[in-house]
Amino acid sequence: MNILITGGAGYIGSHVAKQICTYTDHNITILDNCSTGFESTVQKLQELFAGRITFIKADLSDWEMIDEIFRLNRFDAVIHFAASLVVPESVENPLKYYLNNTANTSNLVKICIKQGVNRFVFSSTAAVYGEPELLEDGIREEYETRPINPYGRSKLMSEWVLEDTAKAYKDFRYIALRYFNVAGADIFYENSKLAPRIGQSTKNATHLIKVAAETALGKREKMYIFGDDYPTPDGTCIRDYIHVDDLSNAHISALNYLSTNTNTHTIFNVGYGRGFSVKDVIETMKRVSGVNFAVEIADRRPGDPAILVSNSDKIKETIGWKAQFDDLELICKSALEWEKRL
Ligand SMILES: NC(=O)c1ccc[n+]([C@@H]2O[C@H](COP(=O)([O-])OP(=O)(O)OC[C@H]3O[C@@H](n4cnc5c(N)ncnc54)[C@H](O)[C@@H]3O)[C@@H](O)[C@H]2O)c1
Repeated sequence: MNILITGGAGYIGSHVAKQICTYTDHNITILDNCSTGFESTVQKLQELFAGRITFIKADLSDWEMIDEIFRLNRFDAVIHFAASLVVPESVENPLKYYLNNTANTSNLVKICIKQGVNRFVFSSTAAVYGEPELLEDGIREEYETRPINPYGRSKLMSEWVLEDTAKAYKDFRYIALRYFNVAGADIFYENSKLAPRIGQSTKNATHLIKVAAETALGKREKMYIFGDDYPTPDGTCIRDYIHVDDLSNAHISALNYLSTNTNTHTIFNVGYGRGFSVKDVIETMKRVSGVNFAVEIADRRPGDPAILVSNSDKIKETIGWKAQFDDLELICKSALEWEKRL
């Protein structure tokens, strides 16, 4: 298969490209405008997997160009990561989010229909659930979606675009994956030492594990815990951290499933179904780095639910996805090792 990966120069898309090249014989075309992704990441992938990866630098908002790219290339499937994803920015500049996430996704789906590309995997997010109540068994896919910011809404609207399109065009199949907190870097060993070849290079990242790794390495003077008075055992928020290589493998399972099951349109949560608090993560990063870095308590951030943990039974039962790296220490170590290389 020739798979189009939009946003493949970014954090998650590049790991998915790596896993596809490692575990399948599919070829890949990465389409990215490098607004938050990196051409150097694509070059690294091209070095690792010679001849398997084509790069097209283009912007999804250039609809004529995207149409042309689809006419000139034969894609068998699309995995769509390209998006804007900074929640506070989405509140300040909502139209950027509705245009880049919802409008460009709608156009991409339209071109897929026009060109007969009928397998589509979409990057959605746990942000579609908003601030769910505390659920013992984790959040299931059928839980009410009530996103509380334009980012989450733009993604939910994209899910609706896919759902309605699949109802109207019977050949079109899609899987939307709702990611929980993605973290860590390429699990690759050199001389028995963890040596990630790619990782999260995002500038000004707000992701807890990346921020903790940066602080451990002295790239930040200190880091903050936003609120320690939540109704959780240690007062800090609890999240479901999933290693990026496990998440990537879920995309391979999704593609396989779409290839063998016609008439599929569905949504899966992807997480480990267990949570760690902010304090757990910081303690783990301190332990693996051996650095007792400075941490300050700050006010809660609006819109941060106390606990956000997936129930991922559906993806395991339906497409047989299995986690391999469900280990907070390994997640932190891989993030730290990557951070040292930046
Ligand atoms: N990182 C997370 O924890 C997380 C959680 C839930 C969902 N997601 C989703 O996963 C996807 C990938 O996120 P990421 O963390 O890898 O972010 P990222 O910023 O590293 O990757 C996004 C990529 O898309 C590209 N891009 C953005 N707009 C584009 C456009 N108009 N045309 C072409 N390329 C464009 C960027 O240059 C970048 O390479 C996003 O859709 C995001 O909403 C991420």
